Amino acid sequence: MAETAPSDALLKPALETIAREIDASFDALLPLPDDPRRKLVEGMRYAAIGGGKRVRPLLLTATAALYGVDRDAAVRAATALEAIHCYSLVHDDLPCMDDDALRHGKPTTHIAFDEATAVLTGDALHAFAFEVLADPATTGDPFVRVELVRTLAGASGAGGMAGGQMMDIVAETASFDLPTVTRLQQLKTGALLGAAVEMGAILGHLPPEGRTHLRGYARDIGLAFQIVDDLLDAEGDEELAGKALRKDEAQGKETFLTLLGLDRAREQAHMLVDQAIAHLASYGPKADLLRALARFIVERDR
Ligand code: IPE
Ligand code: IPE
Ligand code: MG
Ligand code: MG
Ligand code: MG
Repeated sequence: MAETAPSDALLKPALETIAREIDASFDALLPLPDDPRRKLVEGMRYAAIGGGKRVRPLLLTATAALYGVDRDAAVRAATALEAIHCYSLVHDDLPCMDDDALRHGKPTTHIAFDEATAVLTGDALHAFAFEVLADPATTGDPFVRVELVRTLAGASGAGGMAGGQMMDIVAETASFDLPTVTRLQQLKTGALLGAAVEMGAILGHLPPEGRTHLRGYARDIGLAFQIVDDLLDAEGDEELAGKALRKDEAQGKETFLTLLGLDRAREQAHMLVDQAIAHLASYGPKADLLRALARFIVERDR
């Protein structure tokens, strides 16, 4: 058996802890109502609790920890961000989008419930995210709350994830060049990963001019993350992934793989992670968890 790398010793417990915290946070914030809305909240809990690697929450809390941010505040912001991610997956899996039946090793929300409930589950998780951020329980500082809301909204909408999803659909029929696919991936995947780092920095009262290195780090891991998602789609293990793979080629989608080929895409992902880690040089050992997380992004098997 391979020796445990020092980054594993740091990363594994951190991933386990954040997974527990995010589950507990969704559980506490999403009580089941005893009325006809119950099915909707069941859908929200089904989509949000007990699945996923929780990469975005870990990224947010690890960045916040650099600046000594209160853990509860960071976990609440991370819950909001993860709610957007979970909503994006519920809608991404719908028959009108990727038409997938499996997510996190269980039936997708529209299969477990029905399509209307899945659409509403996504809508409600979307709104839930901003309700959590705007609540004074997240932070007493109204300026910080507004900045968190603005950042997450920007990363979720037409200039972020939703815009990237639109480009991704267009990519099934258009032939995009490398800069256009890069832009697509930056929006579809990079924007929410970037928001994780940005929201950690906002909670830490770091002024925008102090965020240059963190933004460079986030941009590079964002691209690497999507290249690896594409690689796993082509050559990963469905059992481990807990979702259907070999979808991109079937959909005729232009991705980094179609443009670069497997080997160059893999090389590019590793190069991006080295570059991401180089952006953290000025932080010293306190950024070791962010470094380990960057490596995990290319080494992961799911
Ligand atoms: C999958 O994201 C969808 C993309 C944005 C590429 P993750 O791989 O972070 O999904 P989970 O939450 O861990 O399943
Ligand atoms: C989904 O991308 C990205 C978002 C939901 C924003 P994919 O369609 O590639 O994700 P998977 O492969 O289904 O997880
Ligand atoms: Mg998709
Ligand atoms: Mg999909
Ligand atoms: Mg994919």
